[in-house]
Amino acid sequence: MKKHRRKATSENTRARPTKTPPSERASAEVLIERIVPGGAGLAHADGRTVFVGLAAPGDKLRVRIDQTRGHIAFASITEVIEPSPSRVEPPCPYFGRCGGCDFQQLSYEAQLEAKVSIIRDCLRRIARLEPPQDIPITASPSQWHYRARAQWQYDSLRTRLGYFERGSHRVCDVLECPVITSPLQEELSRLRAEMLEGLLPEAAEFQAVAGDEGASLTPPSGPNAAREVSLRIGDFHYRFSAEGFFQINHELLPALIAAALADSTGERALDLYCGVGLFTLPLAQRFTHVTGVEASPAALRFARTNLEDAHFSNAVFECAKVSDWLRTNASQSAPVDLLLLDPPRAGAEEDTIRSIINLNPRRISYVSCDPATLARDLKHLIEAGYRLDSIAAFDMFPQTHHVETVAHLSGRD
Ligand SMILES: C[S@@+](CC[C@H](N)C(=O)[O-])C[C@H]1O[C@@H](n2cnc3c(N)ncnc32)[C@H](O)[C@@H]1O
Repeated sequence: MKKHRRKATSENTRARPTKTPPSERASAEVLIERIVPGGAGLAHADGRTVFVGLAAPGDKLRVRIDQTRGHIAFASITEVIEPSPSRVEPPCPYFGRCGGCDFQQLSYEAQLEAKVSIIRDCLRRIARLEPPQDIPITASPSQWHYRARAQWQYDSLRTRLGYFERGSHRVCDVLECPVITSPLQEELSRLRAEMLEGLLPEAAEFQAVAGDEGASLTPPSGPNAAREVSLRIGDFHYRFSAEGFFQINHELLPALIAAALADSTGERALDLYCGVGLFTLPLAQRFTHVTGVEASPAALRFARTNLEDAHFSNAVFECAKVSDWLRTNASQSAPVDLLLLDPPRAGAEEDTIRSIINLNPRRISYVSCDPATLARDLKHLIEAGYRLDSIAAFDMFPQTHHVETVAHLSGRD
């Protein structure tokens, strides 16, 4: 097995703590200074840096120290002594126990501010870059019931269906989830009814997505079994299913696509990690030749159908790992005007960034769902001579600390 030595995912930039036995757990009074990558509140107490989950900046709290590592402590709230002005009452009855949402205690304004602060923090600490003065963030049109993709855990022994509890692999039984769209809520309720009748297939996890026709579910169960659904965005019609990736927050997609493409036009564009072709189709409207690269055969089947439906003959899709495809194609490639990449949370593989630098695209548009891995990859690109022209955030995941970011870089000439 290959060893992974890269450092900057939000998980592994957090210190690995040692658990303090319950009898030795101390308590402390802290003032939350700001929200940091990973979503915790940052405070200082007794010479230690303390990370507190579910906090709001400005909160005065009594906390219990759960884990320590050197001068770092991880704590949970036992009492809100003086609430921050940005603290609100979380409306979800599962808040605090369910691992799904960690920002419901923040007003929506404070959530947006915290996300921009997280991006700034990653750029400074990981990319060693002074962030641009202005990092605009586009709010989600819906702050609730926006989520059109979900992953539900099923514990058949305890008859539970929902999400993992915070920091554990125990399943939190969830009857109603306030962030999923209504077709997904109907699907969750239907699965629950099947579970109570003992009819659910043996599976630890279900993936569900919703499109204009309703939900699609895998592993297959009931009427919506892994069926094709679709979504119209502007000129384009995208087909997808629960078996491949599709973006979570449909209402924000027109703004995300517009930001990722910006004013780009030209001869040749690459769309790396292209999924079902969300960006490939609008790129094909602007560029003479477009190549989309994606590892999932299920996603690529939809990408090809979506391209056919749009009647474009100037784009091709390659089914490959991006790193492999670049290794064999980068050296023979004609000049690339725009390279768009939208990798999973782990960011681009190390040799992918090296190949991109060798390929020398004129412009790069980096769409990311993890500011820490984005910052890690930007550092390498900027060291190689690319200039960061702009960075903008999109609140694709309200009520959580997650944020989508689009960074534009331009060439080395
Ligand atoms: C964040 S999604 C973006 C998909 C698409 N751009 C969109 O917005 O719908 C990342 C995509 O990368 C694909 N993927 C993950 N690792 C990959 C790799 N090493 N090479 C190629 N594709 C990969 C996944 O299957 C997924 O479709």
